[in-house]
Amino acid sequence: MKQRRRGLFLRFLTASLLFLLVASVSQARPRPGREPSYLKFVANATELPSEENYDYVIVGGGTAGCPLAATLSQSYKVLLLERGGVPYGRPSLMTQEGFLSTLTNVDSFDSASQSFVSEEGVPNARGRVLGGSSAINAGFYSRADPDFYQYSGANWDLRVVNESYEWVERAVVFRPELRNWQSAVRDGLLEAGVDPYNGFSLDHEVGTKIGGSTFDGRGRRHSAADLLNYANASNINVAVYASVERVLLAYSGPRGSSRSSISAIGVVYRDRMGQYHHAMVRENGEVILSAGAIGTPQLLLLSGIGPRPYLSYWGIPVAYHLPYVGQYLYDNPRNGISFVPPVPLEHSLIQVVGITELGAYVEAASNVIPFVSPARSVFIRAPSAPLYLTVATLMEKIVGPQSVGYLRLASTDVRMNPLVRFNYFSSPIDMERCVNGTRKLGDVLRTRAMADFRVRDWFGVRNFRFVGPALPVDQSDFEQMADFCRRTVSTIWHYHGGCVVGKVVDADYRVYGIRSLRIVDGSTLTISPGTNPQATLMMLGRYVGLKLIKEREVQPATKSDSGDL
Ligand SMILES: Cc1cc2nc3c(=O)[nH]c(=O)nc-3n(C[C@H](O)[C@H](O)[C@H](O)COP(=O)(O)OP(=O)(O)OC[C@H]3O[C@@H](n4cnc5c(N)ncnc54)[C@H](O)[C@@H]3O)c2cc1C
Ligand SMILES: *[C@@H]1O[C@H](CO)[C@@H](O)[C@H](O)[C@H]1NC(C)=O
Ligand SMILES: *[C@@H]1O[C@H](CO)[C@@H](O)[C@H](O)[C@H]1NC(C)=O
Ligand SMILES: *[C@@H]1O[C@H](CO)[C@@H](O)[C@H](O)[C@H]1NC(C)=O
Ligand SMILES: *[C@@H]1O[C@H](CO)[C@@H](O)[C@H](O)[C@H]1NC(C)=O
Repeated sequence: MKQRRRGLFLRFLTASLLFLLVASVSQARPRPGREPSYLKFVANATELPSEENYDYVIVGGGTAGCPLAATLSQSYKVLLLERGGVPYGRPSLMTQEGFLSTLTNVDSFDSASQSFVSEEGVPNARGRVLGGSSAINAGFYSRADPDFYQYSGANWDLRVVNESYEWVERAVVFRPELRNWQSAVRDGLLEAGVDPYNGFSLDHEVGTKIGGSTFDGRGRRHSAADLLNYANASNINVAVYASVERVLLAYSGPRGSSRSSISAIGVVYRDRMGQYHHAMVRENGEVILSAGAIGTPQLLLLSGIGPRPYLSYWGIPVAYHLPYVGQYLYDNPRNGISFVPPVPLEHSLIQVVGITELGAYVEAASNVIPFVSPARSVFIRAPSAPLYLTVATLMEKIVGPQSVGYLRLASTDVRMNPLVRFNYFSSPIDMERCVNGTRKLGDVLRTRAMADFRVRDWFGVRNFRFVGPALPVDQSDFEQMADFCRRTVSTIWHYHGGCVVGKVVDADYRVYGIRSLRIVDGSTLTISPGTNPQATLMMLGRYVGLKLIKEREVQPATKSDSGDL
């Protein structure tokens, strides 16, 4: 028992130290940028009427939901419902240095990051703010691996895919400037054979590159919320602190007959004062769920769309039996090492990456952390004049993954996290990828580029001053490396799936069996985009928005296509 507790503590310590950590060191905060124009059409849910009609009701003002809403507002009347608040004006959210304090400040119902722990004990996070997880993430931006379009199961028009990326990139993507740690990582990767060097590139190609960033040159965050600046202000309402509890469904035609059908006709949401509101969709309109890989399957289940026996167990009336809601949930495991360098380093999130053909992908960060005694939490800042030290981190995440998990309800209260299980490394292929990736980290540590980060010990031997577990000494031993992978697994927060294409939605993201209901977010991904997902999900929001507008222009839906409202 004691050992287990110690194990958990170590896991917590490493999970935290291994990327990140910490508290807003900067007293000098960057000046906030100009007030974003989207604030004009954002209101607290308390200010919205108890019932209103829209062409599109979008649930979740996140990474995919914001670009989708902005795009549809060009031609239609749109309501975007977000359970969290506005990021603008919250310094820790708006700056690169605030990354860790945002992730660790999870005590209030209003914190922008909602923490959860998967059943295997790995701490994780979900965004709860306008901009969604793109408003709390590490800002690395890279377009999907070209394979993604081929194997994801959806229909892609690659010309429109590219136009959609460009639309996103004009607004929120910047070229980062490398400083000491990221430059050393670039050199180390090249020395370790992760080549060619592709320079600054938004494309996912084998080799070492500098990717894009959603932090600008002054360290200010941009997120999917900024894409709302593209919206037609006279066609859009965005409600914050609007927690959607259920999708409203209507039956048409004789029940049970072949002509009967179920349609989504709106949603019920609750404001901060506890008042209920109905947002209904007009003829030919749709409800679109963009609540993310945790939020969207949860909302379908709470609306009675899911596996019949399971819903019955919870006493939820079954509207439609859809067996795979909450299944095919994935998370890419992250493993790595952290050390304290002999000279302090600047703060950096992910900028340089090494894309290998070994089934793994290398990233790095450096963080300034307040030094406190381990008896207290690593997250509690010393009361006065804390000492700061920097921690450099090298990590790898595997592609895929192939290990499959699932999500179950923990409560019928939508504000509670569901229970999730990712079954990390249950597939031997994932384990082999992790061993390959961690061996590559060993190669990088042995390069000349990393030599300056070693510290001379008592005997004059230069070594790394590791924080948390070091890599096994014999890196050729598969079992030792596999044990390291299992022991030190944490998340890089790229979890996806839960309502995947081909199981819960069709290739055009329509929910099987229900009219006027689509899903547009990370829950639909059958495979990870190869790289970090935010670029792909912002593109997806724009892409589906353009597609819906085009479909309705070319071929206005007839009344029977959208069910009776
Ligand atoms: C800490 C962290 C670091 C990351 N770093 C990177 C990175 O550097 N690069 C990268 O590419 N990716 C990164 N990611 C991953 C990436 O940010 C996510 O994969 C992506 O943002 C998910 O987008 P989404 O649209 O599926 O969901 P989200 O962006 O999470 O949006 C879902 C939205 O729905 C809202 N919502 C949920 N339920 C309800 C409800 N019932 N009613 C109303 N609203 C609701 C949520 O509040 C949220 O705003 C990171 C993620 C995290 C958490
Ligand atoms: C919404 O209400 C909260 C307090 O309930 C307040 O702090 C915030 O400024 C309001 N936001 C908007 C956009 O009106
Ligand atoms: C889309 O952009 C990629 C670069 O990101 C390019 O390689 C590809 O040819 C483009 N495809 C189309 C159809 O324009
Ligand atoms: C915005 O929407 C209004 C109302 O539908 C429309 O009249 C106007 O032309 C739109 N503006 C732009 C720039 O598309
Ligand atoms: C692991 O790396 C080896 C080369 O060292 C490669 O042959 C193998 O395919 C990789 N494994 C996986 C699962 O990608």
